[in-house]
Amino acid sequence: MNQKNILITILTFTLFFVACAEKTLQLGKASVDKVVAAMTLEEKAKLLVGTGMAGFSGETTVVGKTEQLVPGAAGTTYAIPRLGIPATVLADGPAGLRITPIREGDEQTYFCTAFPVATTLAATWNTELVESVGKAMGNEVLEYGADILLAPALNIHRNPLCGRNFEYYSEDPVVSGKMAAAMTKGIQSNGVGVSLKHFAANNQETNRMGNDSRMSPRVLREIYLKGFEIAVKESNPWTIMSSYNRINGTYAPENYELLTTILRDEWGYKGMVMTDWFGGSDVSAMVRAGNDLLMPGSAKQYDAIVAAIENGSVSMEDVDRNVKNILNMILATPRFKGYIYSNKPDLKANATVTRQSAAEGMVLLKNNNTLPLSASVKNVAAYGISSYDFISGGTGSGDVNEAYTISLVEGLINAGYQLNKQLKIQYEEYIAAENEKNKPDSGNPLSAFMPKVRPGEFVPTSSQLAQQVKESDIALITIGRTSGEFVDRMIEGDFNLTANEKTMIEVVSRAFQAAGKKTIVILNIGGVIESASWKDYPDAILIAWQAGQEGGNTVADVLSGKVNPSGKLPMTFPVNFMDAASSANFPSDPAVVKSISLNFPGTQRDGKESLRNVDYTNYEEDIFVGYRYFDTFQKNVSYHFGYGLSYTSFEYTNPLIEDKKDDFIVSIDITNTGSVSGKEVVQLYVAAPQNAALPKPSKELKAFVKTKELKAGETQTLRMSVAKSDLASFNNNKSAWVVDSGSYTILLGTSSRDIKKSLELNISDPGVEKTNNVLQLQSPITVLNP
Ligand code: BGC
Repeated sequence: MNQKNILITILTFTLFFVACAEKTLQLGKASVDKVVAAMTLEEKAKLLVGTGMAGFSGETTVVGKTEQLVPGAAGTTYAIPRLGIPATVLADGPAGLRITPIREGDEQTYFCTAFPVATTLAATWNTELVESVGKAMGNEVLEYGADILLAPALNIHRNPLCGRNFEYYSEDPVVSGKMAAAMTKGIQSNGVGVSLKHFAANNQETNRMGNDSRMSPRVLREIYLKGFEIAVKESNPWTIMSSYNRINGTYAPENYELLTTILRDEWGYKGMVMTDWFGGSDVSAMVRAGNDLLMPGSAKQYDAIVAAIENGSVSMEDVDRNVKNILNMILATPRFKGYIYSNKPDLKANATVTRQSAAEGMVLLKNNNTLPLSASVKNVAAYGISSYDFISGGTGSGDVNEAYTISLVEGLINAGYQLNKQLKIQYEEYIAAENEKNKPDSGNPLSAFMPKVRPGEFVPTSSQLAQQVKESDIALITIGRTSGEFVDRMIEGDFNLTANEKTMIEVVSRAFQAAGKKTIVILNIGGVIESASWKDYPDAILIAWQAGQEGGNTVADVLSGKVNPSGKLPMTFPVNFMDAASSANFPSDPAVVKSISLNFPGTQRDGKESLRNVDYTNYEEDIFVGYRYFDTFQKNVSYHFGYGLSYTSFEYTNPLIEDKKDDFIVSIDITNTGSVSGKEVVQLYVAAPQNAALPKPSKELKAFVKTKELKAGETQTLRMSVAKSDLASFNNNKSAWVVDSGSYTILLGTSSRDIKKSLELNISDPGVEKTNNVLQLQSPITVLNP
């Protein structure tokens, strides 16, 4: 080879290697580190913010919606084709996939299944079932071309009035965490991701973008972070969504202590964190805190990141760390893997999943020899607007665009019952006329996302009623409630029943009872309502919750006895609103709630003003949320936590405890002692030793398990395992989880106030687990003490 040829050969090889290097510098082929090294500063900044939302600058309120890739999804990430980085699609949740069902110039429809809302699912106390719902939901995400479902949502039901409680599971962190973990496993089994939200302590809608949730580290860690901790450790969610609110003074997405110290350093989280839509204020603080992705993203945020990198207020190390978390998320997505989605998920099969899962969540509150309906019941008089206009789920970003909702009357007709015709016509005409009057205000951009105004109830006249009693075998009265994002519920006419609702229940019940006929109240609700003042009138009360699109069919399944109810309350129903320990520290003045919620963006109220329960909320009830309060302080309630009746009965025998080194295992035999098959939920509570160092609730739920469908006479042995570290309380002064030594009582019950068996567990060595001293209150607040 002469010199020229040698040179040509070298050049050819060099060009070949350069070309190869260029080619391999593609995400998925080259390592994430190499891809990051190859990115320009501008590309990094672009990747850290989403691609925005057409028409929305963040100056007005918004429910996530983009037209890119999957119309109606909440947002997309930025694509860098040069490096093989595709855009990925993030869509709401949590009751199903939220996308646009009908698209211009396209004959196909893109309806999604409206699954039961989270509260309904929590009421099943069946994690296996919830996982199967997640699996069905996740398949719609995959087949409609989305990558991340912005779900599950697991904020604590701190107060009955929170407008988004229906999207959340429970007042208890163990129920919330276990449900969220099951949902996450189910969704992610499809190869798509979730986003656990809203992290953390986002417990009111009023001024949600500015409110400061103030509480001690103990309250945060034991109540408001616990569910997230369980879900993070048990189900490895791909992403987490930081919440809008501040926590002890710092916005969640700007909170390094929350997003890095606790989430990553203490819990070992390896996934990606994104903001809630337009959440947070200081862009550099968010990048530094470990809030990887800013959603939906704006040009202003991009400029701010570039400027912050250039002026050194954000380090390249932090930027690279966040970029890597985003790239790792993208690497896992179906879009990156080139999955060809069908746009044809099996909606029929998923409707069946909805019908069955909702049935298991229905809670029978009262049953005076009324249910299941006897074979002689054929003609039904259905009262209440919601019997005809059943509510499948709440409003806002958690609203799903489903193809249909089966109303209660449709469900009854499908099940072979006959409806009182006159009454049906009267309601249908009344609803149509009222809806005409209550059309959403087209001048208000929020109205489309707000709970729609529902017609008020009317009371039948005595002559109408006499006729209806004569013609019908039974009366059904549905009380409906809807609520949603942006606005909290009201005490009057929402938590409390309206005068007409109460009168309707009373007069209908009395008239039917006088004729020897029964009345059943169906509660089509997403959260707690007052029940103590009227519950004596009807013969039976069933909570149908917001059961998803098959609602009416599901209720008919339970009424007819096709399904034996096995749901249990995941929250307490207090006698009066003010009985809940958080009520004094929750926004409940209607004038304030309305004016603040409609006055977006909440960030205008940035703490310069200081309206109690609006700009800041003191969690004075401390750890005493829900039953932790009612049971410890021995308060009367209308229906207690964990409560729910069945058409059969169960016996608890052979409770055993096996004391292992780090955990203990409890087993119990459950026998169906009634005459029909059914399922039982066993709840394991722990009462701390008398000499506990810190104030403790009288009991706390630590585990639960549901039997299979037990035939009459059948027995099943259930086992529950609890880590001893789960008995710990968080000591604020020591910044440590501490397990006191002493004698613990393990309570096995069918509800928090119906304990069937108890066992003792002795802990001889106290356990101490140090944590970081973070998320401290800025100034002390008054707290409740037992
Ligand atoms: C909600 C989130 C939702 C996001 C995107 C926000 O207003 O708080 O739950 O995922 O919008 O639609």
